[in-house]
Amino acid sequence: MEAFGFHYSFWLTVGDNYMKLQLEEILAEGRALIAGADSESSLNDLRVQYLGKKGHLTAVMKTMAELSPAERPAFGKRVNEAKAALEELLDQRFREVRALELEKRLANERLDVTLPGRRLPQGTLHPITLVTEEVTRIFSTLGFGIVEGPEIENDYYNFEALNMPRNHPARDMQDTFYVSDDVVLRTHTSPVQIRTMLQHRPPLKVIAPGTVYRRDSDLTHSPMFHQVEGFLVDRQVTFGDLKGTLKTFLNRFFGRELGVRFRPSFFPFTEPSAEVDIACVICRGKGCRVCKDSGWLEILGCGMIDPEVFKAVGYDPAVVTGYAFGMGLERLCMLKNGINDLRLFFENDIRFLRQF
Ligand code: FA5
Ligand code: MG
Repeated sequence: MEAFGFHYSFWLTVGDNYMKLQLEEILAEGRALIAGADSESSLNDLRVQYLGKKGHLTAVMKTMAELSPAERPAFGKRVNEAKAALEELLDQRFREVRALELEKRLANERLDVTLPGRRLPQGTLHPITLVTEEVTRIFSTLGFGIVEGPEIENDYYNFEALNMPRNHPARDMQDTFYVSDDVVLRTHTSPVQIRTMLQHRPPLKVIAPGTVYRRDSDLTHSPMFHQVEGFLVDRQVTFGDLKGTLKTFLNRFFGRELGVRFRPSFFPFTEPSAEVDIACVICRGKGCRVCKDSGWLEILGCGMIDPEVFKAVGYDPAVVTGYAFGMGLERLCMLKNGINDLRLFFENDIRFLRQF
């Protein structure tokens, strides 16, 4: 052992191999390996390899027996220092590797906040919904309240109370879906007049938008469509009031003066009655398939409420008078937007709906 001089140098046995390594060399090699380790698992392996029960340093400790007792304390101290140094290096490298791994993960999982998001297709309100809202808004500003009624309606409200007894030929004007003998899908919004008048006393000034059903189907007729009913009940109401209200409404709705005509007509529940036509905006009055070559498109029916209707709801026709109207919302929407086929509203082709 003297041959090695100072206690740094010694012979080391590892396993069966008899290796000549100096403690300094162990340290130097350990340092290099630890510095080069780039994962937690390889650091764990190195810890076992150098500091474990069968590790290099334990083996070095065992060689102490070969030293003279005087040499032992200094040598033991030196091995312990080497152990502490390696432990410190391992811990430090552990922290570095962990930080590096975190950095790597953060880099991989990084969100690029500058990447434009994927746009969700945005829906729009259906043109009929938009027109209903617009009509309702205009009548609200004119002081009308809003009421609603059921789409599945008793024959009584839909026909009888409106002066259309069973087997009355006027019922033919509205080809009807029957649910049963006494129950129908309402053919118009006029039954809401009856329901409202039965519930309230005059004066009344309301509109009633809603869905209605008829056995009709062509360019300008659909089996399901929408109407807005409007009526006013008070003393001394005149046809002039009706005309003024409708003209005011139409001018506001279309935002300009359109050709409007009141054409004498017949409804069992109004007397006198009229239908209102608007100059066809598709052909500008020249005549086309939408207006059936007449240059005009019917948008509503109206008139002074028939005394028979007042009697049915218990109002005294000698005291109260009133007007009523019912307009087709699809027609209004077609005219406002230059749409030439009513069926477009119900096909729900996204290319059509997107335009509103
Ligand atoms: C009526 O429905 C009456 N209840 C209107 C009324 C109310 C008159 C109050 C007097 C007093 P008419 O069947 O004409 O009337 O229909 C009214 C409007 O609904 C028509 O002018 C038209 O614009 C629209 N319309 C009627 N049938 C259809 C249909 N099949 N498809 C689309 N719109 C329709
Ligand atoms: Mg009509």
